[in-house]
Amino acid sequence: MLTNNLNEDVGFGEAFQVPSLLGISARAPFMHDGCAKTLRDRFDPACGGDRHGDVSALAPAQLDELLAYLESL
Ligand code: HEM
Repeated sequence: MLTNNLNEDVGFGEAFQVPSLLGISARAPFMHDGCAKTLRDRFDPACGGDRHGDVSALAPAQLDELLAYLESL
């Protein structure tokens, strides 16, 4: 189901259920507070960033590939 099915604190000071990534592209806005209006926004440091996944190390083309993958799920 592309989730570990656990509650995890990814930097908000409280735990949230790790959501399944299946069908993710149809579920905007993202994150419990809706800080990501698009999937790309999820990787902004102000809205998740490296708090779940070492994504700031990705080159721009790699981030584009990750977004294309997420949109295909
Ligand atoms: C590169 C790896 C990762 C990617 C691409 C990724 C992607 C995402 C996305 C797109 C969302 C938004 C889902 C939604 O709003 O429906 C999300 C939320 C979340 N992810 Fe990740 N994630 C990654 C790694 C992780 C890891 C390793 C954990 C746990 C240790 C985790 C825990 C969570 C939690 C708890 C949320 C919900 C946060 C909230 O509602 O504010 N993620 N993730």
